[in-house]
Amino acid sequence: MPGRLGRPGPHACPLLARRRGAAGAHQRPRAPRRDRTGAHVTRGRAEVAEPFPDTAEIQDGRLRTLGGIAVEELAERFGTPLWLVDRATLEGRMRAYREAFAAQEAVLGATTTVVYAAKALCVRGVLELADDCGLWVDCASGGELATARAAGIDPRRIVLHGNNKSVAELRDAVDAGVGRIVIDSLSELARLEGIAEAAGRVVPCHLRVTPGVDAHTHEFVATGHDDTKFGLTLSLGLAHEGAARLVASRWLDLVGVHCHVGSDILRLDPYHAAADVMVRFLAEVRATHGAEVGELNLGGGLGISAVPGDVPPELPTYAADLTAAVAEAADAHGLTARPHLFVEPGRSIAGPAGVTLYRVGTIKELPGLSTYVAVDGGMSDNPRYPLYQAPHTFAPAGAVARDGTPRPVTVVGKHCETGDVLGEGVSLPSDLAEGDLLAVAATGAYNHAMASNYNRLPRPAMVLVGEGWAVELVRRETVEDLLAREPSLRDARPPVPRP
Ligand SMILES: Cc1ncc(COP(=O)(O)O)c(C=O)c1O
Repeated sequence: MPGRLGRPGPHACPLLARRRGAAGAHQRPRAPRRDRTGAHVTRGRAEVAEPFPDTAEIQDGRLRTLGGIAVEELAERFGTPLWLVDRATLEGRMRAYREAFAAQEAVLGATTTVVYAAKALCVRGVLELADDCGLWVDCASGGELATARAAGIDPRRIVLHGNNKSVAELRDAVDAGVGRIVIDSLSELARLEGIAEAAGRVVPCHLRVTPGVDAHTHEFVATGHDDTKFGLTLSLGLAHEGAARLVASRWLDLVGVHCHVGSDILRLDPYHAAADVMVRFLAEVRATHGAEVGELNLGGGLGISAVPGDVPPELPTYAADLTAAVAEAADAHGLTARPHLFVEPGRSIAGPAGVTLYRVGTIKELPGLSTYVAVDGGMSDNPRYPLYQAPHTFAPAGAVARDGTPRPVTVVGKHCETGDVLGEGVSLPSDLAEGDLLAVAATGAYNHAMASNYNRLPRPAMVLVGEGWAVELVRRETVEDLLAREPSLRDARPPVPRP
């Protein structure tokens, strides 16, 4: 069975030729993920480096270096499992976003803001890079807000999200002078108004609207349809009620509207639909409530190439398409001025920059059934396959050649859970051996962010690599770190009664 990255033929290494951005590739939409049962198994016949970061050097199907450093050296120095982040790819994506939208401002007739969605990879150093690249930062909790502040982000360039922000989180955001608070419900609106009044501050707000748009993505990451916990549902009149209350508020300033239709989207049509609905809403707010609301935030959600064949639009195409859709809708719905456009990408910035490096352990052959290749991490460092069968591209890593015929295996982790699977039908050389390194591409987004300590596994280190150097973004957690949070009952005074 053909595999994803698979093992190449003896001389095969046309890898770098098929990078993201290959001419014409961006135009090809894919089927909705939930309709592609098993698609990840049969993709990737070609030995492509497509999902690996820009500096990945791949020879004969093996990941040899990243950021100019041999992967064995990285594994030796920092241990495994290891989250690697390629600086060139990360910064390249951040700058490319900024440039792609800046290039459309003349056509749009309005300014644009790119907000990095920190939830994808919320690490201080990453937020510092986002800031250096001219991006704002979107935070979805008090913890993300504190991280952004620790990274020195100007609070005025922070957007605060969350469907259930606590009073403390709202208060902290108001006190810090966060640039935009995105109101997610009518009850939150009332809460925030009280907090703003008590602080004596007028708070700039976006109203999160649920536009009723199908994003053609996995149901766990779709957010634009009506029946969701996020935002104020347009079709039920909640968005209009929210707008009316905000327009009447002395303490909350309705400066914009927001929507986010979902994540991991590889097609442009959900964005067209969202732009049209949201611009029409802006026109209705003006007509009904007499308010000129000048900002439109269309959220994030652009997908990435996690397996060859998943081809997202190129950023210039996406930016041109989105701004054209907004401009067209503004004309169609009679807006007097084009809105200032915000976008909030997370996965499409951090995802392609990440590679996870594992060490292979037990290889279990079940003749006639399956072969299991177990690695030294698993669902605790990458919960996305167990959660929603996110497809991944695997490659043997390091210099040791393995020439065995490729065969399909199930890559599993080391957790006490049958669902602890990282990939099925993964084509790996039959002579892959215990102790080998195995790399997984495009793991920069929502892996570290959603990692756990299941089975008491300390979370891996995260290392930024580039031009021959490597620096820790996050140090490896230790069992001592975990124990440090847990006082012994034996030390409790007065003694805890024992049953
Ligand atoms: C409000 C909002 N903005 C932006 C994002 C980022 O989405 P993505 O990482 O898919 O670009 C999300 C993700 O869930 C979100 O909920």
